Amino acid sequence: MNFNRYSLFKNPPKSYWIDSVEFTKYPSLEENIKVDIAIIGGGLAGIQIAYQLSHANLNIAVFEANLIGHGTTGYTTGKITSQHNIIYSKIKDLFGMELAQQYANANESAIREIKKIIDENNIDCDYTQESAFVFAQKEENLEKIQEEIDTASSLGISASYVKDIPFDIPNVGAVKFDNQAHFHPLKYLTSLARIINEKGVQIFEKTRIVDIEENNTYILTTSQGKTINAEKVIIASHYPFYNKHGMYYSRIYTSRSYIIGIKAQEKYPGGMYINVEDPPRSLRCVNTGIGELILVVGENHKTGQGEDMNKHYNALINFAEDVFTIEDIPYRWSTQDCMTLDGVPYIGYYTSNTPNLFVATGFQKWGMTNSTVASLIIRDLILNGESPWQDVFNPSRKTTLESTKKFITVNTDVAKHLIRGKIKPIEKEIDLSNEEAQIIEIDGNKVGAYKDENGKLHFVNTTCTHMGCELNWNNAEKSWDCPCHGSRFSYKGEILNGPAVKPLNFSEDVNTVEKLLKEDF
Ligand code: FES
Repeated sequence: MNFNRYSLFKNPPKSYWIDSVEFTKYPSLEENIKVDIAIIGGGLAGIQIAYQLSHANLNIAVFEANLIGHGTTGYTTGKITSQHNIIYSKIKDLFGMELAQQYANANESAIREIKKIIDENNIDCDYTQESAFVFAQKEENLEKIQEEIDTASSLGISASYVKDIPFDIPNVGAVKFDNQAHFHPLKYLTSLARIINEKGVQIFEKTRIVDIEENNTYILTTSQGKTINAEKVIIASHYPFYNKHGMYYSRIYTSRSYIIGIKAQEKYPGGMYINVEDPPRSLRCVNTGIGELILVVGENHKTGQGEDMNKHYNALINFAEDVFTIEDIPYRWSTQDCMTLDGVPYIGYYTSNTPNLFVATGFQKWGMTNSTVASLIIRDLILNGESPWQDVFNPSRKTTLESTKKFITVNTDVAKHLIRGKIKPIEKEIDLSNEEAQIIEIDGNKVGAYKDENGKLHFVNTTCTHMGCELNWNNAEKSWDCPCHGSRFSYKGEILNGPAVKPLNFSEDVNTVEKLLKEDF
């Protein structure tokens, strides 16, 4: 295995989407303000919710901790599909046909809504209509394909069986959905942001909301100490950080997956593909200034678990080399998604007792359409008091209880993993090569040490600032990752992914490391 000829490992991971648009420059919040609606999170969900509400006469503000679209949206594959692997037969079995119909109608509407928004606003975002395929590699999974075709068809989706897919990948057949699409998610999002900003929606970047207080209205506080007084609040910031209601920390887990962008000698035959089996493998193509870039995606695992994260990139390269004649691999990046345990997002009222607090999360790796569904449901709940699809996505649905029980089982794995981590020998001496990390023990407490490419050491307190789990090192992304709810931190302690809202205590001086442990999370 010699991957040195490819350029991807010469640079840190970078997303093609982020690399191919200009960075936005919205201001940070510098004063206390009062709004009708505060939207936390400037990804596709937050910006589209603001778009849908911008037609009403409301004072709206969006707050993004980083730059808009630089969270999950900037690391997606940009597939606009109502085909979410095998989903309709699962929802039919779990919730019944009526709610499966809601899910189908919502996601088919989302595809049409994105196209309508693009057309009405002349958005240039490389929108391309494509078919989407789920293929089975094992005979025993063919039945799932057939069941999905039957269920999707009876829900009004144009779904059909195809015997083969146009790649040299062993498969026994596939379900094909017509009239699906893909686009450049950041060209779409940044255009939409400009449009709503011109219509009066305020957008604040580098403005992290760290606290929510409830009185008659909501008072949000930013990490810079500014406050926002809001009548209604929508939490669309990926993993919800607000723990007063809903126990979201007990019913969402995060899953990481990996993407490589390859240039191949073969012409891509069109279409979007994903397999039924594990490990997942998914394909789509982007037409770029450097020709066709084929996105090869897969290798799911829970955040903060696993030993050598580079093995996931290597596995994708091996797969890609089997299927294509690769000229180069200019891009690689990873991403993180919120997963609910019944497989359906949480979109709607934060709880049944919070009529002015909303949530949109758990998009299950299908964020383009599910975030659009969120924008339509939350618009309808706020403006009309009801949505035709509110039941299937209801965050307080009955299966939540079941999900919570299942989460405890999932967390048992996490606990085991943590225990395994704890009984590994923990070095008391720092013995690191450049670009390596280790956990050292000081008076029974743990400190993470990372030596950068220039030999400089960086220390962090490895207790997660969200709810206190122990962080693990991610050698592919050079980050400290939490196995409990997926918070991630740079080696300097900065937040890369929530739900944590507070950075890690950090030091570059070995003599002050003990101080890192003194402050509470
Ligand atoms: Fe919850 Fe780390 S993300 S404890």
